[in-house]
Amino acid sequence: MKVNRRFFLFGTALAARAFQAESSVGTAMIGVGNRGSFLLQGVLQQPNAKVLALCDIKPDRLDKAATTAARDKPATYADWRRVLDRKDVDAVFIATPPYLHSEMAIAAIRAGKHVYCEKPIGVTPAQVRALVEAARGSSKVFVPGQQLRSQKQFQEAVRKVQEGAIGEVLMVKAQRHATADLPHDGTSGDWYFDVNKSGGYLVEQSVHNLDLCNWVIGARPVRACGFGGTQLYKNDPPGRTIYDCGSLTYEYPKGVMMSFTQNVFHPGSMPNGNQYIYVYGSKAGLDLMGSGTAYPLERGGQPVVLAAKRQEDQYAHLAAFYDSITKGTPPPVGITVGAEAALTAILGNQAMMQQKMVNWSDLGVEL
Ligand SMILES: NC(=O)c1ccc[n+]([C@@H]2O[C@H](COP(=O)([O-])OP(=O)(O)OC[C@H]3O[C@@H](n4cnc5c(N)ncnc54)[C@H](O)[C@@H]3O)[C@@H](O)[C@H]2O)c1
Repeated sequence: MKVNRRFFLFGTALAARAFQAESSVGTAMIGVGNRGSFLLQGVLQQPNAKVLALCDIKPDRLDKAATTAARDKPATYADWRRVLDRKDVDAVFIATPPYLHSEMAIAAIRAGKHVYCEKPIGVTPAQVRALVEAARGSSKVFVPGQQLRSQKQFQEAVRKVQEGAIGEVLMVKAQRHATADLPHDGTSGDWYFDVNKSGGYLVEQSVHNLDLCNWVIGARPVRACGFGGTQLYKNDPPGRTIYDCGSLTYEYPKGVMMSFTQNVFHPGSMPNGNQYIYVYGSKAGLDLMGSGTAYPLERGGQPVVLAAKRQEDQYAHLAAFYDSITKGTPPPVGITVGAEAALTAILGNQAMMQQKMVNWSDLGVEL
């Protein structure tokens, strides 16, 4: 293997990890449903990737994925453990329902694989804790599917906030509303309405928005309280145990507050969009998810576009995973970001479901 100068510049932490320069990365996909099949298309675009194995318990999805990846003639499996037995598989994508992520990712790490694990990395503190321990003990790459971290608009905006463009961050107001619930006919996310499998809407979906909030605030929350419930889709679909709306307050260090709402009945025709993150600083307020514009507090001050909206590469995160394997570049994000994002969502969900203030320290996960 050719070791170049760049390799040494990454320092001791990465020096421990030998990267697979100039060879193909044998890749396996576990879970080829909606997200897994989207990821598979991205994998096939990577110059170093070869799809060796596909796994799903639904034969129709497995067949469809095998057709998509026909170029590489992958083997198909119903049992994910058989995939991990293959010595020629270097990297594993996990895009199964959330409650399976931690167990599958830990087994993949123990089998010596690089792992790209969809978000949330776990739906309980215990699942997150176990995966953190496994990933920290691995010399291989671990990337959680928090792909907003690889979007250039957010990278630029957060960097400018960190440089003081809006002053000190004091408060955040954010929402993730959806114009509809996921289909109730079982065609998509048949696990989604079971809180023990998905973690609920906050954990399964808002984990992206909450991660952006943590990133721009530059911290993880200290505690959370709030209310949630099922207001529109009562027992619909039957047996539903996830909420359809909620309203939360998170407190961060230095008294920074974040107010977050979620629902699945936000009319698409309503103005101002269904998702936003407004970041209020001591000098300006920033529309982080929208135009990337900062609005000065000072009367008569002119708005400044901190980071303009742009066409983002939807596979940038996945490409960075392969770069990390083949070139030794730092992964776009690692286990800590994945764990903080999942735990922030779990914290909020516990506060809503237990109807009490929950402290980060109550979660019992050392990061
Ligand atoms: N990063 C993102 O933006 C994003 C977007 C959508 C979904 N996701 C995440 O991707 C994951 C999957 O979501 P989805 O929408 O694709 O769900 P899905 O139900 O369409 O796909 C999940 C697949 O996993 C398979 N599966 C279930 N148990 C399995 C097992 N034991 N072994 C092998 N396969 C198994 C199912 O048969 C199904 O095909 C979730 O964690 C979700 O949060 C991430």
